[in-house]
Amino acid sequence: MNRRRFLHTIALSGVAATAARVPLLGAGKPLASTHSTLLAGGGNPLRFPPEWNGTPLVAAQTKQNVWSDAKTDLWTIGGSWPGPTIRAKRGSTFNARLVNMLAEPTIIHWHGLIVPHEMDGHPMQVVGTEGTYDYSFPILNRAGTYWYHPHPHHRTAIQAYRGMAGLFIVEDDAEKELGLPDGEHDIPLALQDRRITPSRQFTYEVVTDDDHLQGFLGDTVFVNGTPDPYLEVDKGLYRFRILNGSNARIFYLSFTDGRPFHIIASDGGLLDKPYSVTLLSISPGERFEILVDFSGDEIGTSVMLRSENTGAGAGYPPPQGAELPIIRFDVVKEASKPFTIPQTLVPYELYREQDALRERDFILSIRHEGSVGNLEVGHFINDKEFEMERIDETVPMDQLEIWSFRNSSLAPHPMHVHGVQFQVLDRAGNANLVPRDRGWKDTVLVLPYQMVRVLVRFNRYPGIYLVHCHNLEHEDHGMMLNFEVKENSTGVDSIPNRPQKLDLN
Ligand code: C2O
Ligand code: CU
Ligand code: CU
Repeated sequence: MNRRRFLHTIALSGVAATAARVPLLGAGKPLASTHSTLLAGGGNPLRFPPEWNGTPLVAAQTKQNVWSDAKTDLWTIGGSWPGPTIRAKRGSTFNARLVNMLAEPTIIHWHGLIVPHEMDGHPMQVVGTEGTYDYSFPILNRAGTYWYHPHPHHRTAIQAYRGMAGLFIVEDDAEKELGLPDGEHDIPLALQDRRITPSRQFTYEVVTDDDHLQGFLGDTVFVNGTPDPYLEVDKGLYRFRILNGSNARIFYLSFTDGRPFHIIASDGGLLDKPYSVTLLSISPGERFEILVDFSGDEIGTSVMLRSENTGAGAGYPPPQGAELPIIRFDVVKEASKPFTIPQTLVPYELYREQDALRERDFILSIRHEGSVGNLEVGHFINDKEFEMERIDETVPMDQLEIWSFRNSSLAPHPMHVHGVQFQVLDRAGNANLVPRDRGWKDTVLVLPYQMVRVLVRFNRYPGIYLVHCHNLEHEDHGMMLNFEVKENSTGVDSIPNRPQKLDLN
């Protein structure tokens, strides 16, 4: 069986306490603890993944100087952690070859990109050791920050955790016209937590109750693979592209001085306008782009981006919602380039609830089965665990639907849908969306016992895609379903040579 067994009695009080620690948005609080090297002005300059140059993406075991004084065992795509940053223009064709030099099967998924089924990295497409997979697809998505990571069934979590993930940045003309901060003022921040050993290795063993219920939480946050990172900035405006590439950790982003910042983009690219916030939660799989203004900072001062304490208790690893330092910004010089915050960004069509043709429920549950002392944890959608060959839902092409994610468990679930960008309709019945729920999304955080409904329409490719929790332990343990997009509800399997339409809003 694929479910993990563990030999613990689940203490109900402990489980309830876990649920209480995960509010979507907390209130601003001062930094309660200090972080030795970062707050003392130490740390390591933020690293940047190399730009991809078109060479084959080789998945392999490598050793890297994550810390300068040690070699850390990693599994990488393209030889670095994170993998090389891919940049592509909307409307161009992307071509790449995956070469698998791992000792186990893998496949790459392009998270957020709308691609044909054969190009989507479905776990049925895995290639074995020394196998290759050739990708070729048109870039249909709006400008934005997407990403890639492996997707073999039962092995996604460990492969991503070992280091296999990278950014996929799409650019387009609508974005260019806005004159957003670019060059050295356009900075990717890929956030990933890891549990580290004294010998500078990353441990991964999913054993405790919390590892199963909350997923695998780390003790240390890395940014672009950098431990204790800092970045020297000027007194200008910066665009940060933030990816939460963690297996399970939700970050509650805020600055130590409580300064406002502006959300300009979500998973599927730019919003209609910037939204000013002081706190932003980002769950595994999600991306947000923010503008941060350092013009009011004195040269020689610093400010820290951290994950705020949401009222979490203490413990090891730090529980979901615990305070964690992320990156320090050192203001070192006058602004080198004047950027301003645009009043508006890129308008898009807003789906309307009354246009939806049907509603589909996805009930998310975690259950303990077996007897005390020999309990199994099962992760389910609609009472089912993933099966490779089973098609769980048939979804007609070009029809607007409401998908209701109903969390009937004590853990938060960042729900992700392949093959589409959707829009949040309401959260816990509230259609007055907070900024983080606006715009085009492919991953949405569903809190314990909450219902989040999204409006979704597949308008490009027929075929088999996935809906799953992006808590990678939950995903690997079965919280994933197949659905098939069909040209019409009466069941045409596929339409050959479907004409290409590039307009996805
Ligand atoms: Cu980012 Cu199916 O995953
Ligand atoms: Cu995906
Ligand atoms: Cu989950």
